[in-house]
Amino acid sequence: MCGIFGYNGAKGAPFKVKEGLKRLEDRGYDSWGVAALKNNRIDIYKRVGSIGEVNKIPLDEDSSIAIGHTRWATHGGVENKNAHPHLSSDGSFALAHNGIVENFQELKQDLQSKGYEFSTETDTEVIVKLVEEHSNKNIDFTEAVRKAFKDLKGRNTIILLDATKSRIYAVRNGSPLVVGIKDDEIFIASDTLSFSNETNQIIEVENNQMVEVNRGIKKLEVSNGDEVDYKIKKMNLEESRIDKEGHPHFMIKEIIEQKHTIRNATLYSYEELFPLINSIRQAEHVYTVGSGTAYFAASQIAYILRRESQLNVTEIKAYEISSYRDLFKKNDVIIAVSQSGETADTIEALEVAKQKDMTVASIVNMIGSTIGKMSDHLFLARSGPEICVAATKSFTAQVAWGYLVAYSLTNRFNRFQDKVDKLTTEIEKLFESGIVQDIGQLTKTLVKEEHFFVLGKGKNYNIALEGALKVKETSYKHFEGFASGELKHGVIALIEKGVPVFLIVSEDENKEDMLSTASEVKSRGAYTIGIARNNNDLFDYFIKMPNLKQLDPLINIIPFQILSYKLAVALELNPDKPRNLAKSVTVK
Ligand code: M6R
Repeated sequence: MCGIFGYNGAKGAPFKVKEGLKRLEDRGYDSWGVAALKNNRIDIYKRVGSIGEVNKIPLDEDSSIAIGHTRWATHGGVENKNAHPHLSSDGSFALAHNGIVENFQELKQDLQSKGYEFSTETDTEVIVKLVEEHSNKNIDFTEAVRKAFKDLKGRNTIILLDATKSRIYAVRNGSPLVVGIKDDEIFIASDTLSFSNETNQIIEVENNQMVEVNRGIKKLEVSNGDEVDYKIKKMNLEESRIDKEGHPHFMIKEIIEQKHTIRNATLYSYEELFPLINSIRQAEHVYTVGSGTAYFAASQIAYILRRESQLNVTEIKAYEISSYRDLFKKNDVIIAVSQSGETADTIEALEVAKQKDMTVASIVNMIGSTIGKMSDHLFLARSGPEICVAATKSFTAQVAWGYLVAYSLTNRFNRFQDKVDKLTTEIEKLFESGIVQDIGQLTKTLVKEEHFFVLGKGKNYNIALEGALKVKETSYKHFEGFASGELKHGVIALIEKGVPVFLIVSEDENKEDMLSTASEVKSRGAYTIGIARNNNDLFDYFIKMPNLKQLDPLINIIPFQILSYKLAVALELNPDKPRNLAKSVTVK
């Protein structure tokens, strides 16, 4: 997690860095800092909290070279002293970091035994002292940075501002890093979106490469310091629709955008899908993998592939990959699901799959991501930037793409197009019918409750899980999703008078079971909310949904997304930036 940003160009560098950091806040927002160079001196300004609303920072705008950082704390509390960038003892360089130095305790002890003193609890300060230690050996600063970086274990990316040579250095291993070029200006950042308002010319930095930036750029291999060639690529960046377009929050904007994002994710021709279809047909086993919401999407895709294509498909939580390792076989297919394409847990799972010569496919929203680069078959979800930390439109896009694959595997590509057209029309109608206001009313009834449950079965089971996660994330309410079948095996003990229980009821083979479940919880005093095609005496509150048959899950999640948003607003919480979370989870 954490976002890093560097700028070398014209005057006004602190402003450029501040603006870049605002666009990186999805990576963490518990504290931030900017270091600017002017007259061979580095000045640093750091603050606890989000940089989001900050207009001006007290650094010299005559500076033309600066770096910055927005933090998601891993080592050391959320305090000014632990915020990055960190200054070296002699003030000659400042350093910011994204990642976790896995061997930091060992390195720290070694450095302490050599007399280095530490003033923070961060693993980052260890890197600062390591660079100092190597610099003391009378080697060039570039070499000192390279050697220090080689001492680190784990996924780490660092950026340094060096006052002596007026340069920025950045080194990548694991956590993302990209360079942007615009005439005489150079941007170095965790992602392209952070400078997409400035340029679409980029230089990709691979793992174990470093860049040295002054008026030009040098790219080096970390292993031996050799210079490597680079190409400037033109990215097809959808210009930064990072504004709320009149909505009070990104979350509600992104929920409403599902009117067209679901369709966008499925705009692949059969020819484009065919290489993946072919790989799946040749595989003995197919796996889907993801983390958090993306895991629920992966799980739903696995369900669809089992139900619609009769395939042997297993969903895996990325961070629980270990027990599957020995089952993986050459030519098996693993489908990675990720909004950012940078989730460390998912990347590690793919590394295991690649060691086993599996075919890697992915459905990713962000362009130019690590997961994308690891994939044999990459599909972009094409949802546009998702700024709200809680994933909404990326989830439905990923699931819709899963349906497209499942239908295409069984020669029903054209039939799926009709279905997705109908779905799009019904989503339009749902918003026109006043669903947002309707859930707003329900929120007023529920806002004081602390415990909630949602039950689903079959195709709606993952929707129950994802719906519950959504509400937890933005409202901090205790909201659990269960398979309705789970109820009598223990969960029913939690049901007491007045507890709100949502029931997702489709017109399918599970309807009767779901209604029995409604009856069981209602007879124990629950306040039942039916998300269903038809009202029923068993529901205390009813949210009418269309009948989209197999595609129901894609629309059934929307009431939970809206509830999650409305509860946060009612509780005066910022739904776009829930506490303790970051959008891109680039650490394990
Ligand atoms: O970028 P990814 O989709 O790989 O991210 C995976 C999860 O970290 C993410 O879905 C997380 O659960 C979100 N907070 C969901 O709202």
